[in-house]
Amino acid sequence: LSAGLVDRFGRRATDLRISLIDKCNLRCTYCMPENGLPWLNRNQLLTAAEIRRLVRIGVEIFGVRELRLTGGEPLVRADLPEIISSLRADHPDLPIAMTTNAIGLEKKAQALAEAGLSRVNISLDSVHRETFAQLTRRDALEKVLVGIEAAARAGLTPLKINAVLMRGINDAEAPDLLTWSLQHGYELRFIEQMPLDADQTWKREGTVSAAETRELLGTRYRLRPTEEERGGAPAERFDVLDPGTGRHLGTVGVIASVTEPFCSACTRTRITAEGRVMSCLFSSEETDLLELLRAGADDEAVAQRWAAAMWAKPKAHGTDRPGFEAAGFTRPERSMSAIGG
Ligand code: GTP
Ligand code: 5AD
Ligand code: SF4
Repeated sequence: LSAGLVDRFGRRATDLRISLIDKCNLRCTYCMPENGLPWLNRNQLLTAAEIRRLVRIGVEIFGVRELRLTGGEPLVRADLPEIISSLRADHPDLPIAMTTNAIGLEKKAQALAEAGLSRVNISLDSVHRETFAQLTRRDALEKVLVGIEAAARAGLTPLKINAVLMRGINDAEAPDLLTWSLQHGYELRFIEQMPLDADQTWKREGTVSAAETRELLGTRYRLRPTEEERGGAPAERFDVLDPGTGRHLGTVGVIASVTEPFCSACTRTRITAEGRVMSCLFSSEETDLLELLRAGADDEAVAQRWAAAMWAKPKAHGTDRPGFEAAGFTRPERSMSAIGG
């Protein structure tokens, strides 16, 4: 084993996130434009065998301990069950998670669990049909809800729900979303919107902050920070208590990517659907591994290029600093859908 995927600031990446496809069947306003993006051709995407090889290099050479499959929307990829079963065959004990919008999961959850998928995080910004449609530009709430149920039934747990709050659209519904999640036993996390929307309308002032989110939830529940060690995890977790009786109802997470960033403890390395390393969500550089793979390079050459990309990982994104835009922050060209989250 090498020293791992270390960077100039002493961080080590042991959490690998691979985007399987750039396409998605929703058009969330904080991510995709109304008409979609110019999608990659099939031959530009990593094949199942290439994904398998990169994960093997990650685990064997760099000591990767956790894998997350992302998109676009990973369920759009027809060979997803084969991808998962091949990864599971190579790595019997590796936690394999997936971030998905759950559309189509109703029919696929059981097979994915059997193929070796460990758990899912599902994006759901509202449990009200109109609000959901306004945010995602698709009237698909029902499909998502049955997908979530199927995932829970298939044991893809602990099942987490990701919600992005948008001011004036779904922020007032934050307590409803928490009530619904508590009732079903899912762990809800609220994510601050980052400047990764394809429409590029993000404004720092528009972001519903973690502090505001805690306040909104405080109108219905009492929150108390959990005692656990957070490590490099994006979410700060809270116990949710009944304000009257003090009874423990569950937990909720807040991911304060913008106002309280967690870059100094980052453990993530990302590979895009077309096989490029992104050392950070906000890195301006992308390092092509696909070309090496297809040119017949050996594992060591691929690993070397991957490690070099991670060495150059930026210290932090800096959007928490007032005046960061004037100080030279340039937003990434890619939107979240093309990075994977
Ligand atoms: P688990 O808690 O292990 O389930 O994973 P996770 O929190 O990484 O899950 P997920 O992939 O669902 O990430 C949730 C959201 O957190 C993402 O969609 C991003 O918005 C945000 N996030 C995840 N990783 C990073 C990161 O490295 N940097 C920043 N700024 N935000 C991140
Ligand atoms: N800011 C924060 N989170 C985002 N996501 C998508 N776009 C953004 C953004 N601009 C999240 C979604 C989904 C995950 C893939 O990324 O909520 O859960
Ligand atoms: Fe890691 Fe970059 Fe996210 Fe910061 S912004 S937590 S460094 S991926």
